[in-house]
Amino acid sequence: MREKKYTWHKIAETIEELRFKKNSILQMAVGNKNICIIKTEKGISACAAKCPHAGGAMCEGALDKNENIICPVHRYTFNLNTGRDITGEGYYLKIYPVEIKDSGIFLGIEEAGFFRSLQ
Ligand code: FES
Repeated sequence: MREKKYTWHKIAETIEELRFKKNSILQMAVGNKNICIIKTEKGISACAAKCPHAGGAMCEGALDKNENIICPVHRYTFNLNTGRDITGEGYYLKIYPVEIKDSGIFLGIEEAGFFRSLQ
């Protein structure tokens, strides 16, 4: 299986620097993408800002008790590890890897090389 290559973007020095809303979610532009950054018990997760169903603003959503993210429009609910909707509609939310290091918090965006775009 082809290994994914990422460009890593520093999004903050520390978790405290990230200004989360009450729902523990914030939106920021990283590279040329709008991303939702989510604070969970396990750390920091990241997903696409738009719901794959009909473009709902995921950053206006909420987390359930299992830390899945719920779209505010039709309430489809997505696993933040796999992106799979656990409500069974068959949609996948784009998930971005996040790494917390001594030097800061980094978000990976998959590189889209010429041959990758043909696959
Ligand atoms: S737009 Fe998100 S569930 Fe419909």
